[in-house]
Amino acid sequence: MKNFKRIGILTSGGDAPGMNAAVRAAVRVALTRGVDVVAIYRGYSGLISGDIKPLSMRDVSNIINRGGTILYSDRCPEFKTKEGMQRAIDTCKKFGIDGIITLGGDGTFRGATDLTAHGIPCVGIPCTIDNDITSTEATIGFDTAMNTVIELIDKLRDTCESHARCNVVEVMGRGAGDIALNTAIASGASSVVVPEFPYDDESICKKIISAKSLGKRNFIVIVSEGVGSDYAPALTKKIQDATGVETKFARLAHIVRGGNPTLRDRVLASKMGTFAAEELLRGNSNVVVCEKRGKIVSKDINYALILDRMYKCTLKEGDLDSFSEEDIAKMKREIDRKRAHLLELFTVENKINL
Ligand code: ADP
Ligand code: F6P
Repeated sequence: MKNFKRIGILTSGGDAPGMNAAVRAAVRVALTRGVDVVAIYRGYSGLISGDIKPLSMRDVSNIINRGGTILYSDRCPEFKTKEGMQRAIDTCKKFGIDGIITLGGDGTFRGATDLTAHGIPCVGIPCTIDNDITSTEATIGFDTAMNTVIELIDKLRDTCESHARCNVVEVMGRGAGDIALNTAIASGASSVVVPEFPYDDESICKKIISAKSLGKRNFIVIVSEGVGSDYAPALTKKIQDATGVETKFARLAHIVRGGNPTLRDRVLASKMGTFAAEELLRGNSNVVVCEKRGKIVSKDINYALILDRMYKCTLKEGDLDSFSEEDIAKMKREIDRKRAHLLELFTVENKINL
């Protein structure tokens, strides 16, 4: 087993509330085990340029409650190149970095798997508000983002009720309707539009007309950004034209990516950060930390990445070649469970938000 003397930690891709809590946990576990920890700033950019500083126990004090990431984040196209990878490896040698804990989404994990293949073992922690990493039931940041969304929609509802208006609200979720579906239930939205299920503007308008005839004054329609950025503004106009209800549009965008993490995200991040450091130090790398039925487990990064492709129907030729039939059957079961979960949310929303 590798004898770790110094490990690095970085946050990469889109930030997510709870990243700091995970960093705090991982750093403290490693330091307690007598392993040095260095902060790699700005994700893979900092690994390439050597933007690196040692971290002490106290450097991660008072951050469990803070949104964003104290390590900063970046998108680093150079890291995907041969030269970029070589510079990253050189930095690891220069700073004596034996392994890295990487926090981010699937792009970050692709980078982590490349690094592992080049001799720098990595463990990934899933951080994204979108909850679009199929191998885990929850990602760090998802709960906070949803809570921010419902807080904002509650405010919009007040003014819609006063003025008898409708508000179309676009929420984040690159290709995933998880935020939209959950918040639609929790905020009593009239309709929800997500890429996973069919939708049609006419039914949305009919529902509003029918509810209006029964005395309803406020209407919220939630649209996931995954259906395309032009859709929600166009729907806003359509609703106003077809229903006669004055309709406004709000794109919540990055406002729901910031802010203090919720209790759920702080606890999840603390558990995942602890597990990630322990996993790396026990010599288990190229894995992503996942939550499965409330338990923290690790999954092979390649398995997680291919599972995502299978879920998103973006598998490429040969992607499944290295997996056993048993693995493939397991992937299909995981996907069925995720789809069933989203369908349940969609069905409940349609049944009760009239
Ligand atoms: P996220 O991790 O949130 O999915 P990105 O997709 O932007 O965010 O990925 C974060 C970073 O991970 C990228 O800027 C890049 O440095 C690295 N990365 C992304 N895709 C790959 C890849 N295919 N190979 C190696 N590194 C990658
Ligand atoms: O993946 C998280 C996310 O916030 C998506 O919902 C959104 O599409 C994307 O990141 C926006 O990324 P950027 O930070 O590049 O604007």
